[in-house]
Amino acid sequence: MKIAIPKERRPHESRVAASPETVKKLTALGCKVVVEKGAGAGAAITDSAYRDAGASIADDQKAALTEAEIVLKVQRPEAKELALIGKGAVVVSIMDPYRAGADLAALAGAGVTSFAMDLMPRITRAQTMDVLSSQSNLAGYKAVLDAAAEFGSAFPMMMTAAGTVPPARVLVMGAGVAGLQAIATARRLGAIVSATDVRPAAKEQVESLGASFVAVEDEEFKEAETAGGYAKEMSDAYKEKQAQLIAETIPKQNIVITTALIPGRPAPRLVSAYMVASMKPGSVIVDLAVEAGGNCELSEPGKVVTKHDVKVIGHYNVPSRLASDASQLYARNLFNFLELMIDKESGALAIDWDDEIIKGTCVTHNGEVVNPDLAKLSAAAPAPAPEAAAEPTPKPKAKPKPKSKAKPKSKTGAKGGGA
Ligand code: NAI
Repeated sequence: MKIAIPKERRPHESRVAASPETVKKLTALGCKVVVEKGAGAGAAITDSAYRDAGASIADDQKAALTEAEIVLKVQRPEAKELALIGKGAVVVSIMDPYRAGADLAALAGAGVTSFAMDLMPRITRAQTMDVLSSQSNLAGYKAVLDAAAEFGSAFPMMMTAAGTVPPARVLVMGAGVAGLQAIATARRLGAIVSATDVRPAAKEQVESLGASFVAVEDEEFKEAETAGGYAKEMSDAYKEKQAQLIAETIPKQNIVITTALIPGRPAPRLVSAYMVASMKPGSVIVDLAVEAGGNCELSEPGKVVTKHDVKVIGHYNVPSRLASDASQLYARNLFNFLELMIDKESGALAIDWDDEIIKGTCVTHNGEVVNPDLAKLSAAAPAPAPEAAAEPTPKPKAKPKPKSKAKPKSKTGAKGGGA
């Protein structure tokens, strides 16, 4: 069975879907792994490292994809790539399905069986395949380093003969996988850290990392976690109370790192222009949710902007900024998932359609979008503009209102796919 690893071609993507380690394991299962020339370059993996692990190197995308039964990708295939993938092939990638629009119908139309790693159910058995965890963890770490690089002061307290440098104060908004890693990283650098979340389970986790927890802990807060472990969208009344608390907390911070996401919904707007204006000059905000509409009103996708003397960082695809580690972990997530569908004796495809992991992640099969929520979205999506599909979703330009009252507003977007 041929497994293809094409080079990723979407903008801001340096990761690759296989590592020499996973190539070796797939080869041991009896698969023939074909890697497109240069596919690992962005992640510092050479063609010869893949070759030594047992892969063959294809000269171009077409040669890699022709007759592949399984195609492993980081991001969902673009139209040109899809045209090279054979009908009936299995395609596994991070699909960013809620923002995929007409791409889902295109996958169905191409007759491929596609699986979204970012729809992995959050059950114990699937932990080793949880790509949102593996990638968000790295993003949380990198967000702190990005903040430190833009910040004109130190993180730890330093007592010197010339006087004392005070420690930086860091607020992490959203204490999920990325947020908890951001807390741990900022603490390791010596900052005084606090964090906020709407899920009660986050409180203990935040405190166990040595940070203080800041949240509106009312009745709604006690019910804010779904059975799947995610946050619910909060009521307008809760958002108002939360905005008030954050408005009081933010002026005391030097660094704010926002990571709050709600699957399938726009990212909650937590930091208004007014709050940005209330921060001390030289403060830094990192918006990890920028591609999902943004947690900060003034963040701009792909840019570092200075607003009201505060630097607002909105890098695209933060996991890809640590492409080596991100690729190694993602490749392992993929291998663990593939093990479910490859028969160990024969090395052939053997998909168990009753497995909840298979059912939960399958997006298209037999020419249809099979996930019911995505089928509705896909039916409502406009026809694709041929090249537009390759571009990241732009965020509408923010209108700063520094004098207005702090009020969170949700606008466009949904759960980020850069994770
Ligand atoms: P996420 O990426 O969907 O969201 C990030 C964080 O933002 C979450 O903690 C969420 O509660 C928070 N948030 C949402 N709206 C907010 C608001 N208005 N204000 C403040 N914070 C807000 O979440 P992530 O990181 O993917 O993880 C969510 C949970 O799932 C965590 O408890 C994690 O431990 C759990 N989990 C379970 C796994 C498993 O059992 N296999 C694997 C990975 C995570």
